[in-house]
Order: sequence, then C-alpha cells, then structure tokens
Amino acid sequence: MKVLIFWDVYGRLWRKAMKENIPELKKKYNPDFTIVNIENATSGRGPVAEHAEFIESLWVDVMTWGDHIFDNAPSIKTFFEKKDCTLIRPANFYENSSFKQVGKGYIIVEKNWKRLLVFQLLGEVFMSHKVLNPFLKAQEILDSLDPKSYDAVIVDFHRETTAEIYGLAHFLDSKVSVVYGTHTHIQTNDAHILAGWTGLIGDVWMNGPFDWVIGAEFSSVKKRFLSGIQRWKIEQKTSGRYKVNALIVEIDEITKKCISIENISYLQK
Ligand SMILES: [Fe+2]
Ligand SMILES: [Fe+2]
Repeated sequence: MKVLIFWDVYGRLWRKAMKENIPELKKKYNPDFTIVNIENATSGRGPVAEHAEFIESLWVDVMTWGDHIFDNAPSIKTFFEKKDCTLIRPANFYENSSFKQVGKGYIIVEKNWKRLLVFQLLGEVFMSHKVLNPFLKAQEILDSLDPKSYDAVIVDFHRETTAEIYGLAHFLDSKVSVVYGTHTHIQTNDAHILAGWTGLIGDVWMNGPFDWVIGAEFSSVKKRFLSGIQRWKIEQKTSGRYKVNALIVEIDEITKKCISIENISYLQK
C-alpha cells in the first residue's frame, strides 16, 4: 500500500497550487490513498467549509486538522458533521459527560481492497490547547479496534518539539505503520524506519509560500519580534515562490510494516 501525505495546505497560494500538484504527484507515485492536512487552508487559519470541500474534491481520502481546528468553527461545523465526513480532528481532545466534541478522532478508509486507519493527536508540550495524554490515547485507540479491521495505521502527531514525537514514535514502534510530525512548518531531514518497523519523520513541513515566517509576510511580524508586543496583525503571504512538500510511504498491508518512507520537496517552477 502506498500513501501520499501532504501537510498543512497554507492559504490561497497553496489551494491554487494543490490543483496542479496533487494530480501530477498522484500520476508519478500512484498512491492508494492521499492524506492532506487543512488546518491553515483559509488565510493561514482553520478552513471554512468551501475550502474543505475544494480540497476534498481533489480526490483526497482523509483530511486532518490541528490546533487551528476551531478558527472558523461556525462555517466548518456542518461539513464536519456530515455523514461519511473524511475530515478528522485530534483524537485526544477532552471529552466528558458535560462536553461532547464534534466529529471523530480517527477514521478507517477503504479502497482497492485495502483499509487504512488514520488518527491525529495533539502534543502536550508548548501547545495552547489542553489535551489528554497522547501516548495513552494512541494506546486506547489501538486497543479499542480489532487489528483485523485495518491493514495499515498512520498517525499524524501535531506537536511542537522533536523530543515529543520521537518519544511517541518509539512508544508506537511495531504497533503502527508510520508516525509523522506536523505543526512547525519546517521539514526535518530524518525520514527513517525505526528499529522495529515503524516509519518516522519529525515534521513534513507545509505547502505554501517559501519566503516567509511560518507562512506570514516577514514585514508584518517584524514589529512583534522587535517590540515584544503582539498587537500587530499578521499578514498572510499571497504571492511569490512556493514550495511543495509531501511524504510518500509504502506499507506491507499483510504485516502493517513500513517498507519505505521518503520526503518530497521542491520549489514550484
Ligand atoms: Fe498547528
Ligand atoms: Fe500549521
């Protein structure tokens, strides 16, 4: 089984670029499934329903979120709650008798007689949301499902530090096929298979403007850096060079083992 993974479609520039790049990369790598993260799809913030629908229409099988999940909550709510929605949220948000989260934290998608389980977790270190322990939540999800109900497992770990994802990946080694990191918008040069059989990359990067500070115009964040005061508005970068970043992984669907993991990264011509 081959899976093509795009992290963090950032704003207008990349929504446009997706239309050209997804079909081309699909032709080149011939994946069984495609996963796209859309947490910054609308002007660098959480998507409105229209943008989620646009990305879904590009034959994307699973969409994930992150800490920007509720930026445009009223617009995305209906999309998120529709039957067979392919958008998932972090699985380790608080949920209890007095607060029910919308949507689901994991999904099993099926195509070409192959079944892929995907779940997303939020990290606990330096993140703004309070969440349940991601290690225990991962174990809980795996324990709650019959391993015969899926052929591969991919975990999107949305976190700030490399230490936390390495900890989770080693915890899940030989239990899941691939763990990939997201959120920093910087690709790490460390895609590899762990001592067991789980594939790992610290961070996939993002898809969007190249000459930026996490997707923003430097001029709009400069004052924040120089003054220490956060009141100035951050402007999204909407023109100039942009970069395509993705991950292609191959998984043996009989054993669930990762066979290969390779990052894709190029400047759009
Ligand atoms: Fe994020
Ligand atoms: Fe992001």
